[in-house]
Amino acid sequence: MLRSFCVFLGLMTGSAALAAEPADTNYDESKVPQFTLPDPLVDNAGQAVGPEEWVDHRRSEVLRMFEESVYGKTPDQKLDVRYEISESDADALNGKATRTQIAAYFGTDPYRIDLLVYTPNGVDEPAPAFVGINFNGNHTVHADPAILQRDTEFERGSSSDRWQLETVIDRGYAVATLARHQIDPDRYKVNFSDGVHPLFYSDGQTSPRDDQWGSIGAWAWALSRTLDYLETVPQIDASRVAVIGHSRMGKSALWAGARDPRFAMVVSNDSGCGGAALYRRCYGERIHHMMKPISYWFCKNHRQYENREDELPVDQHMLLALIAPRPLYVASATNDRWADPKGEFLAAKHASPVYEMFGKPALSTQSMPKPDHPIHTTIGYHLRTGDHAITAYDWQQYLAFADTQMGTQ
Ligand code: GCU
Repeated sequence: MLRSFCVFLGLMTGSAALAAEPADTNYDESKVPQFTLPDPLVDNAGQAVGPEEWVDHRRSEVLRMFEESVYGKTPDQKLDVRYEISESDADALNGKATRTQIAAYFGTDPYRIDLLVYTPNGVDEPAPAFVGINFNGNHTVHADPAILQRDTEFERGSSSDRWQLETVIDRGYAVATLARHQIDPDRYKVNFSDGVHPLFYSDGQTSPRDDQWGSIGAWAWALSRTLDYLETVPQIDASRVAVIGHSRMGKSALWAGARDPRFAMVVSNDSGCGGAALYRRCYGERIHHMMKPISYWFCKNHRQYENREDELPVDQHMLLALIAPRPLYVASATNDRWADPKGEFLAAKHASPVYEMFGKPALSTQSMPKPDHPIHTTIGYHLRTGDHAITAYDWQQYLAFADTQMGTQ
């Protein structure tokens, strides 16, 4: 009972990993099985891959395996979209920023997603930006009373710690965000009758097929649609947009960054199982743990790998490798054992040969750093002291990394 309540609480707020984890959760390093990871640099025909082959066919081969066995295929179909400015103020956040709220209408029976965008004032050049999905409504990311509150009762400003808006704006970055529930409501057993999935159903279809997208696919799709909008904003430099996410939104940010090469940088904060952590370590959360409460985040095919992680054609280092050679930051927290910090670090390390093949410095020779000792190569990594959360400390690292990697310094 306690566990179900905690799962429910975690799903509602995304604020915490399960407080009481399943009895079969492994937290013992000595019980991590021996495993061999699939080599990102050997293709499915057994041929070694260099930069040309990576670009030519290996990258799409890896992407296809993730679609088929983990996240599902995202529909190719482009929907008509119309943007309407709902509200705008050039004197927001005490004059620091311009706030714009945009209703994006998709499809012929228009479906609305509200975008909230702050751009820094007083800058000479188009600003680089961070884009991410918030858990509980745009009005939760800051106490700013003018942010429109749509369909959720969560308190205004209740997630402001997670967004650090003023700090990000002061540093010269724009921020764009949109709400989880407007893309996919994230409810168990809804069968995808609401959210964006039905916009793409073929005649008579009522839920995604076994190899089609779940919630993570939809959230990643919406991140790309937000970038489409940012490409139309003169105050934003769309060639310098980082996609960021915490926890399930970290999983979604990684999948968005893997699929959409327009994202110039990708940040995964405590994304854990189905995110940055290696499945084959079988440490903390595992596929069979996710299948009851949150199977719908993935494609239905993913269930085949319950307790059979070693049969997956991929592992999460290959997801990270799909982001190469673009800058990638993976962050973990010491108390977040459920998300397997070591597995997150090792995935970044094992993605590194792909970065190095492109001449980018990465983590191949690094061992797991001590808490609060960030490593910043083209892949960034840190293990923050503390809980499953995204904090001011995390943002300080992401901003410093973005300054060097996206060219503001
Ligand atoms: C649960 C889930 C995790 C997920 C987290 C979140 O803890 O088991 O996989 O990352 O919720 O998104 O908040």
